[in-house]
Amino acid sequence: MQIAYTLAELRQYLAPFNHPAFVPTMGNLHDGHLALIKQGKPLGDVTISSIFVNRLQFGPNEDFDSYPRTFEADCEKLRLAGCDILFAPSEKELYPEPQVMKVHPPAEIADILEGHYRPGFFIGVCTVVMKLFQCVFSEAKGHRTALFGKKDYQQLMVIKRMVSQMAMPIQIVGGETQRSDKGLALSSRNGYLSPEQLEEALLLSRVLKELAADYLACGQDNEQLEILEKNAISKMRQNGWQPDYLTVRRQQDLQLAKPGDSLVVLGAARIGSTRLIDNFEVENI
Ligand code: PAF
Repeated sequence: MQIAYTLAELRQYLAPFNHPAFVPTMGNLHDGHLALIKQGKPLGDVTISSIFVNRLQFGPNEDFDSYPRTFEADCEKLRLAGCDILFAPSEKELYPEPQVMKVHPPAEIADILEGHYRPGFFIGVCTVVMKLFQCVFSEAKGHRTALFGKKDYQQLMVIKRMVSQMAMPIQIVGGETQRSDKGLALSSRNGYLSPEQLEEALLLSRVLKELAADYLACGQDNEQLEILEKNAISKMRQNGWQPDYLTVRRQQDLQLAKPGDSLVVLGAARIGSTRLIDNFEVENI
């Protein structure tokens, strides 16, 4: 695996290839990321990943400084997963001057759910993803693919919209959420949890599945949904969690569903000081 620390190195390493398949990350890699690398392998003639902890997508009280940075171990995992090129720019390389030009996704998709609880998050994500796409794809001669995990369901949806609205010639592919044997969605932030919290963390997926089942059982009535959401929230609170939201939405844009829409159940909640998110596409429950 070649490691490019600068844009110039990246372009040099990419030059012989035509069809890049790209997996952007913030490092601290787990099997979810590695599954994306493997999924990307047959989709391009070169597999690239990036590791960049993007300050722009962290709020002032979030974990930018303490976000786990495990570069050596990440390189080893990427190598074993078959990644060909890693782009690991410093902040100075990717943001040589303050990044004042930003991508502002529309409120109806970016200020709901995650965006409501993490103001500016999707501006930071879209801005860095747009910039990373420019770095990786701008000189590609053929089909371009980028892969994102469905664990960050809203992120995947927002990026798909950005790419289609901006006519960016990039295919966005979603990868299934990888889970522990007990069903906990893999996340870099699971590393913050104590052994007891790791057990307790399973509650989030259980409550989400129950919420989806209750919503289907009541005939997908959105007035009833408000009551079901409140019940789910109080169940989490009784177990010591601080939930942000637990809801059922339609997959395409995460608005309230209408009959016939494909559904996704999503939630975010804090256990101690760690914020976890999870979701299930309802047909997969
Ligand atoms: O999902 C992530 O790890 C990040 O949001 C991403 C897409 C790498 C942008 O920083």
